[in-house]
Amino acid sequence: MFVTTALAVLALSLVSAGEPWPFDITTISAPDGSISAKFVSVGATLTELWVLDKFGKARDVVLGYDDNTKLLTDPAHPVFNPIVGRYANRIKNGTFSIPITKDPQPPGPNVYHTPLNDADGQATLHGGTIGWDRRNWTVVSKSKSSVTYHHLDAADEGFPGDVSAFATHTVKDGGILETTVHATATHLTPIMLTQHIYWNLDAFQGSENILNHYLQVDASRVVELDGDFIPTGNFINVSGTAFDFRQAQTIDYRFGEAVGLCGPGCVGYDNCWIYDHDESSKPGLSLWSDVSGIRLDVTTSNPATQVFTAYWLGLEGIPRKKVHGGPSLNYSYWAGVAIEQEGYLDAINTPEWGVNQIYGPDRDYTWRSTYKFSTLT
Ligand SMILES: *[C@@H]1O[C@H](CO)[C@@H](O)[C@H](O)[C@H]1NC(C)=O
Ligand SMILES: *[C@@H]1O[C@H](CO)[C@@H](O)[C@H](O)[C@H]1NC(C)=O
Ligand SMILES: *[C@@H]1O[C@H](CO)[C@@H](O)[C@H](O)[C@H]1NC(C)=O
Ligand SMILES: *[C@@H]1O[C@H](CO)[C@@H](O)[C@H](O)[C@H]1NC(C)=O
Repeated sequence: MFVTTALAVLALSLVSAGEPWPFDITTISAPDGSISAKFVSVGATLTELWVLDKFGKARDVVLGYDDNTKLLTDPAHPVFNPIVGRYANRIKNGTFSIPITKDPQPPGPNVYHTPLNDADGQATLHGGTIGWDRRNWTVVSKSKSSVTYHHLDAADEGFPGDVSAFATHTVKDGGILETTVHATATHLTPIMLTQHIYWNLDAFQGSENILNHYLQVDASRVVELDGDFIPTGNFINVSGTAFDFRQAQTIDYRFGEAVGLCGPGCVGYDNCWIYDHDESSKPGLSLWSDVSGIRLDVTTSNPATQVFTAYWLGLEGIPRKKVHGGPSLNYSYWAGVAIEQEGYLDAINTPEWGVNQIYGPDRDYTWRSTYKFSTLT
């Protein structure tokens, strides 16, 4: 009797104090009140980001769910604002070898296959069937303005070796969100992580989508893609094309030429721009809206950025957050723009680029991205 009771008490305390609930919310705020953010452990995901508009009022400028359990269960799986890994974006035919090769069917022994969850079974997308965005990361430390999550990827989804990853999100005075990642690996493995944030700088107050947001990208080249969103190995010179955002333009300024660019029947972008400069104080990308007057400048140590204008949201019927006018209204076509700081897309199958994305016991993986908010005058 005593034993049974003791076991029951032990079991209860394990449930309440043991496994942390992956949807527990961590809120961080900058001391000056210019920015605050909420995160959950699933995917080390940003669920809300509040910044001040030109009227001094706070808006939540990222898409998401009121019910965060949908991060795991929404069949549409839009990948709202997590850390994506172990290898973000596409992998051609879910196949790679170490060392890397152009051979589509490389001879062994170090050939690996990852789940074909994209392009009708022609590619791996965002780390496989259960990528890092749907893993339960754990909080390893937090303060009023910072939180660090950890994830151990124990040779999941067909990738070789264990990867131990830390992601730290910090908010700072002056409207700054900074995210850093650091990963170590027990074996040689590709690692390419991104932070997949969907922005809408008006937060659905005064506009319904991001088509009139201004975008500027410091990039003269875009990765040329085949029909499965896999690199051909060539780059497109943006000069004179709908990819030219070196001067700020509204996102839809050349949508007439962007029909089909993001897939059959899709209007807009889902492309990888290669930054012209290395990390510096200069932003690689800026986004702003005249409606809210909110401006975002992104500075990163990543060499590239994916810009996805989220056409497909219009077909998914995902209810907006309450603060975005939901749940009776859904996120529509172009409701947000996903801006993903990343490495060269599928460089592990594009050896002609000479980009080394293989990490291991002698080479750690790391990056830093800074999102700085200001208001237009
Ligand atoms: C894709 O990978 C599979 C498994 O290795 C292989 O049988 C198939 O031929 C590959 N497809 C292409 C188009 O290379
Ligand atoms: C994460 O936690 C949730 C809730 O406890 C659980 O249902 C889910 O299976 C876990 N996911 C993984 C990938 O372990
Ligand atoms: C891109 O094209 C423009 C206009 O034709 C040309 O001036 C520029 O040198 C090209 N850039 C590269 C990197 O080839
Ligand atoms: C929102 O999406 C749901 C499906 O999740 C659909 O039943 C509903 O009609 C949509 N609402 C609007 C206003 O389009």
